[in-house]
Amino acid sequence: MIQDAAFSRLGFGVTGPHAGLGLSRSRTEALIREAVGQGVTLFDTGPAYGNGEAEKRLGQALKTLPRDRVFITTKAGIHAGRKRDFSPGAVEMSFKASIERMGCGHIDLLLLHGPSPEELDPRLIRRLTAFRERGLLRHIGVCGRGAELDTAIDLGVFDAIMAPVNDGLDDASRARLARARQAGLSVIGIEVMAGASSTANLPLSRGDLWYAARRLKQALTGTPPAESALNALDALKWAFDSGLADALVCLTTRSRNLAANARIAGLAEHT
Ligand SMILES: NC(=O)c1ccc[n+]([C@@H]2O[C@H](COP(=O)([O-])OP(=O)(O)OC[C@H]3O[C@@H](n4cnc5c(N)ncnc54)[C@H](OP(=O)(O)O)[C@@H]3O)[C@@H](O)[C@H]2O)c1
Repeated sequence: MIQDAAFSRLGFGVTGPHAGLGLSRSRTEALIREAVGQGVTLFDTGPAYGNGEAEKRLGQALKTLPRDRVFITTKAGIHAGRKRDFSPGAVEMSFKASIERMGCGHIDLLLLHGPSPEELDPRLIRRLTAFRERGLLRHIGVCGRGAELDTAIDLGVFDAIMAPVNDGLDDASRARLARARQAGLSVIGIEVMAGASSTANLPLSRGDLWYAARRLKQALTGTPPAESALNALDALKWAFDSGLADALVCLTTRSRNLAANARIAGLAEHT
């Protein structure tokens, strides 16, 4: 279980539109600083997002803050160009490069990015736990949605899992999250607003165009997002009230949505 004052119950995802053309660097960095001002101090990113661009933006935005004010989660295993490699050497090279890009000294939580159960290999686990003992990685975990999370829970070495938390979850997924928490792992929820209904945003921003392109890609590849009857804020409330997760990471490109999400999370404003 993660015990860290900076592990806020609402996190900010520095991914998607924050990793490239969806938003300018300066806008992403300004939103990250606004998030800190709203009491959001958990940030999630990864080297695969924009080939390191998202991590660079996060590092730049946080560089003037005391390191212990924020909790940084990044990933390894899916690398630049979506190349997949969970070998111990590749994972070590990846997180060291992430630390370098963000200039953050250490990673608060390193998540293996969607490994198969077989990729949770004892050699990899030994390498990660050795770096955790040295403090370069404060915590280790697995990001996924199926059997790989069962394996991660059973191994008894991980501190956290990251997984979808929304009202479309089936009973088996809910039971898995409950089992993880009973086993002492922290659960970080994602896809909280997946399929949540939203009103059209006008005028369209660069971020909206990025989302529209993603929807088109999902339609073309036959992987449409889940549908939910809840709107985004009700979906967030539902996820907090569900008690399935210790923290929820949301993605937003809008100050007003960030502020609304922080209010729902009950975070105190830090001025
Ligand atoms: N999905 C994955 O496969 C995955 C995998 C690994 C990690 N993650 C982590 O999870 C984070 C969240 O991503 P997600 O895919 O799970 O998306 P999400 O947070 O469930 O939903 C993001 C969408 O919700 C909208 N939104 C946010 N707050 C809103 C509000 N108050 N009112 C109305 N709309 C609102 C955003 O639009 P606006 O920009 O207009 O606010 C955006 O379109 C990622 O950034 C990443 O850190 C996700």
